[in-house]
Amino acid sequence: MSRVALVTGGSRGIGAAISIALKNAGYMVAANYAGNDEAANAFSAETGIPVYKWDVSSYESCAAGIAKVEADLGPIEILVNNAGITRDGMFHKMTPDQWNAVIGTNLNGLFNMTHPIWSGMRDRSFGRVINISSINGQKGQMGQANYSAAKAGDLGFTKALAQEGAAKGITVNAICPGYIGTEMVRAIPEKVLNERIIPQIPVGRLGEPEEIARIVVFLASDDAGFITGSTISANGGQFFV
Ligand SMILES: NC(=O)c1ccc[n+]([C@@H]2O[C@H](COP(=O)([O-])OP(=O)(O)OC[C@H]3O[C@@H](n4cnc5c(N)ncnc54)[C@H](OP(=O)(O)O)[C@@H]3O)[C@@H](O)[C@H]2O)c1
Repeated sequence: MSRVALVTGGSRGIGAAISIALKNAGYMVAANYAGNDEAANAFSAETGIPVYKWDVSSYESCAAGIAKVEADLGPIEILVNNAGITRDGMFHKMTPDQWNAVIGTNLNGLFNMTHPIWSGMRDRSFGRVINISSINGQKGQMGQANYSAAKAGDLGFTKALAQEGAAKGITVNAICPGYIGTEMVRAIPEKVLNERIIPQIPVGRLGEPEEIARIVVFLASDDAGFITGSTISANGGQFFV
């Protein structure tokens, strides 16, 4: 019986690549999304991966969504906390709404998703939690005080939870992508991308979503059982911790 993997924000961008890679590796995959039904339904029709709509910033919605996935597919053994948003702005102009939206999805979402699944992982003495953080949580980024704070918080969460899960066969790791060619990054004006961002990436290009997905597949595998509490950077050499 193949293991069940749940990918938040698994219908688009990096999450879609992760869902597909996990499916190709033999997992039964469920992909969560927030509200873009058109993209999610097209993704599901194309890949055969079932999609489930709920907002990871709501604990109650997560608990209900997880219960539905588990009723459909079985206990979730691999959780990929990938859903994320940006609401950029210089701090002096940042509104409480911009702050709260990003913290709600990108940081609280990890608590809301992991907490309802954690006890089952402990009971079964196996689990993989993989958190998609960001280079900008490692180094900070102007115009992203909210996003950088949330993504740095994801790394603290990863390290603390790794220590709690270790004796129970649960690993908890984070991946920090650099700039990856998804809609989130393609939304940046092309001039800014070509003149300011790509020149800062030593390999001279954006990353591909599949390059992040392959790390997830490895971290989810039995081969990665000794790796926990780690942060894997995948940023084309842009930043070393
Ligand atoms: N792209 C990059 O260069 C980059 C770099 C570093 C880190 N990251 C991180 O990687 C992750 C994926 O980024 P991406 O570029 O692939 O994003 P994306 O293309 O914008 O896709 C975001 C996905 O997350 C879902 N989502 C957003 N808010 C949600 C919520 N509250 N509840 C449930 N699902 C939600 C979206 O659902 P809908 O389709 O319904 O909107 C969508 O499936 C994020 O955590 C991001 O911060 C990205």
